Amino acid sequence: MLKFLARSLLLAAALTMFTNAYAEPIVIKFSHVVTENTPKGKGANMFKQLVEERLAGKVEVQVFPSSQLFGDADEIIALLKNDVQIIAPALSKFSKFTDVLQLYDLPFLFNDLDAVACFQESSSGKEMLDSMSKKGIKGLAYWHNGMKQLSAPVPLRTPESAAGLKFRIMSSDVLQAQFQAVKANPQKLAFSEVYLALQTGQIDGQENTWSNIYSQKFFEVQPYFVESNHGLLDYMLVTSQRFWKSLPADIRTELDKIITEVTVAVNDLASKENEDAKKLIIDSGKTEIIKLTAEEKGKWRAAMKPVWDQFKDEIGANYVEKAAACSN
Ligand code: SIN
Repeated sequence: MLKFLARSLLLAAALTMFTNAYAEPIVIKFSHVVTENTPKGKGANMFKQLVEERLAGKVEVQVFPSSQLFGDADEIIALLKNDVQIIAPALSKFSKFTDVLQLYDLPFLFNDLDAVACFQESSSGKEMLDSMSKKGIKGLAYWHNGMKQLSAPVPLRTPESAAGLKFRIMSSDVLQAQFQAVKANPQKLAFSEVYLALQTGQIDGQENTWSNIYSQKFFEVQPYFVESNHGLLDYMLVTSQRFWKSLPADIRTELDKIITEVTVAVNDLASKENEDAKKLIIDSGKTEIIKLTAEEKGKWRAAMKPVWDQFKDEIGANYVEKAAACSN
């Protein structure tokens, strides 16, 4: 009997070793819509590199940039169907799943990325990472891109100069209200379609960060930019609750550590990436970048800020107050 037991135990151990040695790695598909030379593109590649160093043979990461696998219209649904395991949409693109993240689209809410970090690192900011858990979406981290700039076929020195122009926006009702506040005509459009829409005149203008403006070549088809810093473009790195819970605990713990490390790195490099992109745009000589005076910027702020009142009940007035306090 003892011999039989010992043989069975040996057999079980050998089987486990064999299974582990030949087990297929867990595949994480990470899909995004920007190019690889942007803060999010670099973050995705850094994540792949660290996972493959530290979880070699156990987890494989496949990165799909530039809407190659999924674009704005379908990436969140693909995540919920487990066709992709990690995505990092702009915070403006979650409005079908939660109201609270609309906070980040309020115009002139944050002065700069330090103010954004102040809120995101607060208990309220962290709470928002869980705002879509009932919809099956798990927030893993916030990744910065930067502050948005406006562009158009005319120099947008005053809010009045935007009246009647068609501006591309992400799928956000706050951004829609922001442009309606200056009597412009906002058009919701997927990121991958913006360049062509600008080139063909389907839209007149747009708002985005310098790194996206440079990497998508928007500066080649927009004669005037204003350095308005009027709004924020940040991301939430998300996975599905279903996929995350299916992972072995030790792998989840290691992935969590890697995500923390990559988040620090992305958030450190984002400002420089945008400054570098701005310099490249200036050096191209293909467009003009206008700096607003304090008075001109004050006029834009006064024209757009009423949007806060339109959305503060949906978002939660306490969140708006706390976020605004980070810029005081
Ligand atoms: C992105 O940075 O992921 C795209 C933002 C946009 O749609 O403008």
